[in-house]
Amino acid sequence: MDIVVLAGGYSHEREVSMSSGSLIANALMKNGHRVILLDLYFGTDEATTFDEAYKKLSKDTYDYKVKRQIPDMNALRALKEKPDEMIGHNVIPIAQSADLVFLSLHGELGENGQLQAVFDLYDITYTGTGYIGSALAMNKILAKEVMSQYGIPTPKWEVLGKDETPETAVPCVVKPDASGSSIGVYLVEKEEDLDAAITDARKYSKDVLIEEMIQGREFSIGVLEDQALPPIEIIPKSGFYDYENKYQEGATVEICPAEISEELTTAMQDMAKRVFKALRLEYYARIDFMVSDSEDVYCIEANTLPGMTPTSLFPQEAAAAGITYNELCDRLAQLAAD
Ligand code: DAL
Ligand code: MG
Repeated sequence: MDIVVLAGGYSHEREVSMSSGSLIANALMKNGHRVILLDLYFGTDEATTFDEAYKKLSKDTYDYKVKRQIPDMNALRALKEKPDEMIGHNVIPIAQSADLVFLSLHGELGENGQLQAVFDLYDITYTGTGYIGSALAMNKILAKEVMSQYGIPTPKWEVLGKDETPETAVPCVVKPDASGSSIGVYLVEKEEDLDAAITDARKYSKDVLIEEMIQGREFSIGVLEDQALPPIEIIPKSGFYDYENKYQEGATVEICPAEISEELTTAMQDMAKRVFKALRLEYYARIDFMVSDSEDVYCIEANTLPGMTPTSLFPQEAAAAGITYNELCDRLAQLAAD
């Protein structure tokens, strides 16, 4: 197939997305597809067909590591304010002339359903969940409301609008309502640290989410079609599973399959499948959990475009089920194409 791997863009997870995208592009090429890795924002300034873009951009290998920590906020804002300089609009004709777009975008545009809706309008085939599920999962507040509606346990929360003060007692978790890779997320232990955490989280979203903190262990489970993959346990060597611990090689111990009872494995896998269905997710997703010291399971969130970087969880979960990285990418492409 002719595949556009779409990555980059201007979200706060731009770097992570480029890292995922380069690995996906390599894997798809190894599977015999013609592939171009396209940055959603910069696109390509001349090409308007897949073939032109292919000639211009195609390389034998792509190699991209998460280089910086978080993209420069001012640079991102500047990009958004200068649409004339944005050449990403070239993506639409190139995408239309390819067989499909493999979405490797993380965070905001790309993961929140907007792009999926545009692609639907242009009849462009893309991997993963459609716009409704993407919007529901990306917005952590909506996701928690839907999960509660379906009786799926999720940590208690409150939504803090502009200028509101929280009622939740510390320790608590402060999060932007729609971000990823733990950007803008704080585990707050002391009352005096709460304001600073809220102020920072607000840089990433209008509404801020404050959750009760669940003391216990952290797990994640991939869902691939109707199969729940083996759970992975996440144990950061220090602090919590924040941006650095997610993408710095060796910073976190990840055990897959997690060394837990069969009962707990089944309980989390069943819940992962229920979340997948409740949030209208399609083809694949990664669902994150906290398990309290008394073994109560809480769903934290669902990720419709889970990271596919060298340190990411979803590929490890697939590997534990006997699915290699190349097979996984090929399968996601085939599922979208069928
Ligand atoms: N948001 C990151 C990419 C993840 O969920 O893996
Ligand atoms: Mg997430």
